[in-house]
Amino acid sequence: TYNVFREKTLEGQNVLVTAGPTYEPIDPVRFIGNHSSGKMGFALARALYQQGAAVHLVTGPTSQSVNCAHIKVTHVTTAKEMYEACVKDFSNTNIAVLSAAVADYRPAEVATEKIKKTAGELSLQLVKTDDVLKSLGSLKQPGQLLVGFALETENEMEFANQKLVAKNADLIILNSLRNKNAGFGIDTNQVTILDKQGVVFESDVKQKEEIAIDIVNTIIQKLYGEA
Ligand code: CTP
Ligand code: CA
Repeated sequence: TYNVFREKTLEGQNVLVTAGPTYEPIDPVRFIGNHSSGKMGFALARALYQQGAAVHLVTGPTSQSVNCAHIKVTHVTTAKEMYEACVKDFSNTNIAVLSAAVADYRPAEVATEKIKKTAGELSLQLVKTDDVLKSLGSLKQPGQLLVGFALETENEMEFANQKLVAKNADLIILNSLRNKNAGFGIDTNQVTILDKQGVVFESDVKQKEEIAIDIVNTIIQKLYGEA
């Protein structure tokens, strides 16, 4: 469902996109995951390709397909695999858009055999995963543009701005979960985009494909508007 006639606005730009959830294994049959559908990230990959970019999509497990043979797709499962794929590619990346819902914690140990039910309760020790956005932020060189997302349920602007600063991102796309027509598992979304100076774009509630186009236009503005 993409247009065969591509724009040239992002021609020559290598873009890295992350999408979907990550799954952190507990034992051979169980994992810790989340409800991210990957829709936003896949829509972004297509919208960036449509503007002429060379797109590398690194995605966790989703039911999405990119429907475009020219978008390079790397399938990963865990946060560690996503981190490794992204760090490996980053020196060759002009723009990184990290929309994945990366698990923040993983089990400290993965049981080699299926954990059996016993009479008592079960506790799992969880340790922090690598933060892909923060890591890329510390590797970022002049000329590289780093775009992150923020999912918040309270103090949205304040927390989103804190993420922008803490992770050395150039833009943060704030996903509000306040609106019942926005976010996880549904086709519509509503975003507010901020940079260091403040709000640069605010969308209506609309289809994720439309939101992706708005986000790409904001990225283009940031890239060329300040030159
Ligand atoms: N992110 C990442 N790697 C992680 C966690 C998050 O790359 N291990 C990225 C997400 O892809 C997103 C941004 O960081 O672009 C913010 O993710 P979010 O979950 O909103 O924030 P966290 O920093 O994980 O903080 P918290 O979940 O506690 O709000
Ligand atoms: Ca998180």
